[in-house]
Amino acid sequence: MADGSGEVSASEIAVHWQEEEYYPPPPDFVAQANLTDPKVSERFALENFPDYYHEFGDLLDWYKPWDTVLDSTNPPFWRWFVGGELNASYNCVDRHLAGSKNKTALYFIPDSEDEPIEAITYQELYVRVNEFAAYLRDGIGLRRGDRVTVHLPMLAELAVTMLACARLGVIHSVVFGGFSAQACADRIVDSGSSVLITSDGYWRAGKWIDHKEKADQACDLAAGEDHRVEKVLIWERHRGQYRSEHPLVEGRDVVIDDVIGEFRGQRVEPEHMRADETLFLMYTSGSTGKPKAAQHSTGGYLSYVTAMSKLILDLKPTDVYWCMADIGWITGHSFIVYGPLSLGASSIIYEGVPNHPDAGRPWRIAERLDVNILHTSPTAIRLLRKDGPEEPKKYKYHFKLMVTVGEPIEPDVWRWYYNVVGQQESAIVDTWWQTENGGFLCSTVPALLPMKPGSAGPGVPGIHPVIYDNEGNEVPAGTGKGGNICIRNPWPGSMMGIWGNPDRYVATYYARYCKDRESKDWRDWPYFAGDGAMLASDGYFRILGRIDDVINVAGHRLGTKELESAALMVPGVAEAAVVATRDEIKGIMPEIFVSLAPGVSPSEELGRRVIDSIVREIGPIARPRKVWLVPDLPKTRSGKIMRRVLASVSNREDVGDVTSLANPEIVEQIREMVQAERLGHT
Ligand code: WT7
Repeated sequence: MADGSGEVSASEIAVHWQEEEYYPPPPDFVAQANLTDPKVSERFALENFPDYYHEFGDLLDWYKPWDTVLDSTNPPFWRWFVGGELNASYNCVDRHLAGSKNKTALYFIPDSEDEPIEAITYQELYVRVNEFAAYLRDGIGLRRGDRVTVHLPMLAELAVTMLACARLGVIHSVVFGGFSAQACADRIVDSGSSVLITSDGYWRAGKWIDHKEKADQACDLAAGEDHRVEKVLIWERHRGQYRSEHPLVEGRDVVIDDVIGEFRGQRVEPEHMRADETLFLMYTSGSTGKPKAAQHSTGGYLSYVTAMSKLILDLKPTDVYWCMADIGWITGHSFIVYGPLSLGASSIIYEGVPNHPDAGRPWRIAERLDVNILHTSPTAIRLLRKDGPEEPKKYKYHFKLMVTVGEPIEPDVWRWYYNVVGQQESAIVDTWWQTENGGFLCSTVPALLPMKPGSAGPGVPGIHPVIYDNEGNEVPAGTGKGGNICIRNPWPGSMMGIWGNPDRYVATYYARYCKDRESKDWRDWPYFAGDGAMLASDGYFRILGRIDDVINVAGHRLGTKELESAALMVPGVAEAAVVATRDEIKGIMPEIFVSLAPGVSPSEELGRRVIDSIVREIGPIARPRKVWLVPDLPKTRSGKIMRRVLASVSNREDVGDVTSLANPEIVEQIREMVQAERLGHT
């Protein structure tokens, strides 16, 4: 589907599978489900907006109740539960002490199967969060509203750190541990953090990764932009053993275990935060420029993830819930930390990778801890199916519900998930949403609606999606025509803005379909998600993929411009274009086409430098599958690079009519080059 700009879009290589048969919700699941009221869609009908979100706010404990559910007087800067005061750390920890302090809040599962699993009770979490909060406040001097960058791998200390920040009203900005020092530095500078929290290292698939190195580099890179990191706080992967090869920097670095003893037994009164104060920042990629930070609120966000965990994940305090995402992404924030802990459930933090030491690992974990809700991505499912298609059958476990998120799931992959992993006993929810949204936008309600492989489903209770064509006309259900999916109404989990850049917030998400920029009526401000989608006659949405210059690799968002700028830093590179290509496991992988400056000749070495630069600037997740060094890039007569044509070449599809390009002959040259190489490989 073209977005009118003539540019590439991931949805052009989207899956166009047939409409599938329905699968009814499993009766045992329905019998115990949280949400079985068939009137739910009436309760959440648009005419009851915004009052129906009362139900979400009511799931939390408030110091002061709100006066107004939604203040929409300054669109599109929505403010939820205005007048209310609460604390996220209190809601995720303290409020469970009276009834279940001995219950496991977090399981930490180390990478190695020989290292014991750690079970952290709510009481223990309370103690750790308070002591660390006391240190951050009294040892470091952090105050409400300060920003802190957290560059940690999947350790329980990451959740402790977030909750300690939340307790103080300190805004955390967690950077995915696999991101590069440069990516970390960019986020430190943009958020204005003077404190970086990191670890000495971690284990990944049996290998020790020295992580402290990145902190040193990130501080240097930030200094290069006149930004000083005052303190680097280091959690040790193995308490009491500093294992990094990179020594502490005098006056700047502190090993947390060396100082935390001083704060033993301290308790920190949670700050009474206004509902619309910022809880955290989460950076994500967009079409242009550097990644931007979605700014999430305390009251709206927490009520939304709590409600989604309860209604869509069917989470109960007695459940053992495993979300395999990384906490460094929004999925982990919402569905490893805030949602499950707010409901008082047991949530798993797994250090390792799904198929280490073999593809039976997840099912052994499920068996051992009696996990009954599993949350993962199509990429992980494809990987586990490829590495061990019969593996799940060897273990005794029972999932009542399974989640898929991050990319469209092929019906065939869905069926393996359902039949083999779920043993036909589990409900599945395919949840569509984004970093900016806080929680789900489309999904079936698991006990009420049948599942349809490959379709996310209708809007979740409270969310009213619509598809518009490029001219702003509504695309009706059942036409088989795609369009741009938008949300008609604001919702509490939505970001409050882009940190430090209100104009970019309006331009990216609201300008496209705003009916009247002067209007104060929320109905005139639909949210533009940036995805292509199709609406079937049953009201189910099928997500086709990004329509902007964003590609979704293994469920992680990358801006093509970010990869291209990294390639352009290599001397000799004249122009670069990134395209999305199909991949058997990761769904989509980037390939990059590079043209060289006059007099520079192509070499393997140059191709390697392009890859190195991308990995250094962004991280290994952005590594292109292939660098094509080409004589020139196909362009329109006005000089615009035709990424769509390149994507067709890479995906071995028809390139269409290219005669109107400025240099049509180059397309054939590139096609021959790509084909020759592909044939050589197969
Ligand atoms: C993009 C958001 C928040 C979830 C993790 C990714 C794609 C997400 C689905 C789904 C098809 C999906 C969209 C979206 N996406 N979930 N269930 N089916 N596509 O968060 O990094 O902000 O990426 O992921 O393209 O725009 P993100």
